[in-house]
Amino acid sequence: MRALVAKQYGPPHLLALEDLPIPDPGPGRLQVRVRAAALNPADLLMMDGTVRDLVPLDFPYIPGTDFSGTVTALGKDVETFEVGEEVFGFGAPPSFAAGVGIPAITSGAMAEYAVFAAGDFLARRPDGLSAETAAALPSTGMTGLAVIEEGQFQPGEKVLVIGAGGGIGSVVVPLLADRVDVIATASYEDEQYVRDLGAGEVIDYLEADTVDECLRRVPGGVDVIINLALKGDPLIEAARAIKPGGRLLSTTPGTPAPSAFGRDDLAVSVVMGTLKLTKNTLPAIATHALRGTLPDPVTRRYRLSEAALAYQDFAHTHSRGKVVVTMSDEPAP
Ligand SMILES: NC(=O)c1ccc[n+]([C@@H]2O[C@H](COP(=O)([O-])OP(=O)(O)OC[C@H]3O[C@@H](n4cnc5c(N)ncnc54)[C@H](OP(=O)(O)O)[C@@H]3O)[C@@H](O)[C@H]2O)c1
Repeated sequence: MRALVAKQYGPPHLLALEDLPIPDPGPGRLQVRVRAAALNPADLLMMDGTVRDLVPLDFPYIPGTDFSGTVTALGKDVETFEVGEEVFGFGAPPSFAAGVGIPAITSGAMAEYAVFAAGDFLARRPDGLSAETAAALPSTGMTGLAVIEEGQFQPGEKVLVIGAGGGIGSVVVPLLADRVDVIATASYEDEQYVRDLGAGEVIDYLEADTVDECLRRVPGGVDVIINLALKGDPLIEAARAIKPGGRLLSTTPGTPAPSAFGRDDLAVSVVMGTLKLTKNTLPAIATHALRGTLPDPVTRRYRLSEAALAYQDFAHTHSRGKVVVTMSDEPAP
């Protein structure tokens, strides 16, 4: 089979397509012919070695966690799926899964075939949900739904979403927009995109200071910040835009400890979507996508032959919605 392969830690231009044996499922796992796989920021952090202490990789390493595909073989003891079934979901390298304490393992989704642990991190892909869209939704959907559950949002609250134009933003903004006032940060070229997601106001973070501009528009500060972009000190600075007694929900690795914010009144939560997953999560995400309450997040498509380029573009260019790679030379259905 063809697979995208990293042979050492490094930037995405070192990635290359190789012919590798099709992986065997093994007990508790299933083999799929991958139709589509989506890129995530964590793929880059794992491959460039940034998180190698937490997630050491075995090389050759096939990236990719989020996928859709067709079940082609079942390992021993797998009874919840059938050969020929269309599925989508999430799997991580074994070291990631062990570190986070989740059972979702994969051999790597950026390949024509991959093996995934059978369980709640996989679900049937319903008719009507395209393979590309289904592949784009697992990580961002899990995390977006976890943010919404954890946030306990009240009608009419003012919520600043930092990094609204990316993958998780494409889930949280539309699912929140009917009950709270969303102020999104986005560059000028993404303004219409985040407005279409449901943001009532947009701050161009490249043109204005996000905190000053937010406090100019909401003088007392917002009720909540959802942070999908900032790390370290810039996030501590951004919390100035939260009113006394407000909340900060953050998904980024590099979110400072609550004590670093120096505010007793602020509730700081780091949201980990994978830890909140239940057997209902992926079906709920699929339902939102089918109903249109979640707009299709796919904004860029590549073929497997272009997968290395897809990662280079993802690393170096502006990021809007989700980037998806289809494995066949034909567009995924
Ligand atoms: N905890 C979890 O379970 C979990 C799961 C998935 C992802 N994550 C993490 O959550 C974060 C968001 O994930 P994602 O998939 O949404 O990422 P993404 O698709 O790369 O989107 C991030 C967005 O942030 C914007 N951005 C970058 N710098 C910014 C700044 N200084 N101010 C405002 N916006 C800025 C980017 O816009 P430009 O492209 O214009 O810079 C992009 O639109 C990442 O750090 C990811 O690693 C966590």
